Amino acid sequence: MTSLRFREPHRRPQPTCRAVAASSRRDARGGGAPPPPGAGAPAPGPGGGGGGRGGGGRPGAAWAPRGGGPGGDTPPPPPPPGNTHKETQEPGPPNPPPSDPARGPGERKRIAQGLSELLADSYTLYLMTHNFHWNVTGRDFNSLHQMFMLQYTEQWNALDVIAERIRALGHPAPGTYKEFVKLASIKEVEGVPRSDDMVRHLVAAQEAIARTARKLFTLVNAANDQPTADLLTQRLDVHEKTAWMLRSLLEG
Ligand SMILES: [Fe+2]
Repeated sequence: MTSLRFREPHRRPQPTCRAVAASSRRDARGGGAPPPPGAGAPAPGPGGGGGGRGGGGRPGAAWAPRGGGPGGDTPPPPPPPGNTHKETQEPGPPNPPPSDPARGPGERKRIAQGLSELLADSYTLYLMTHNFHWNVTGRDFNSLHQMFMLQYTEQWNALDVIAERIRALGHPAPGTYKEFVKLASIKEVEGVPRSDDMVRHLVAAQEAIARTARKLFTLVNAANDQPTADLLTQRLDVHEKTAWMLRSLLEG
């Protein structure tokens, strides 16, 4: 069946395909393919040389070893291992245990819950900062527009780190507005505040996230969960420093 399908174009060559077929033969010879065993063979056999209907060298190269025809001196490969894919689909445990078995499931769940609250606060702050980046007006537009962009970019990248730490602890990460509204301690700002009020809202939100992270720190330390402690330390550092910078804009 296979050889018949690929022999047919050579019996009835179409004028419009000649240039393509010639190009394919040139490609096959120039591409390092060994010459056909018969010196007088003008064209690759049904299975070799890329002279198939599809044109180009790739389909022909794929068919040459399989067909083992006159143009292909490579023996057909062994059949692919049929069970490999199936073996990778074997169901595993629903929640693989984390690498540190010292932490019990109850501790992991409480830490994941705290991180979910931190993720919700972080997402709310990210959206608030981006919103203010879009809508800020006034004499300080340029500096605030740029400053807010740097802040929301950093916050956006942090979301992924927090969410994947929750996953590493074996729990699902919240990822809907509905969940974020329920978990967040920061409330959304309605309307478009003046630029100095935007800064005040952001100071309050940055301080709120720092409180959320610090509240979780006690539990994480007691659980000897160094990766989460490291994550919280970094977030605390960022949010406290950003709160200071924003507060400085309101002074003087
Ligand atoms: Fe922008």
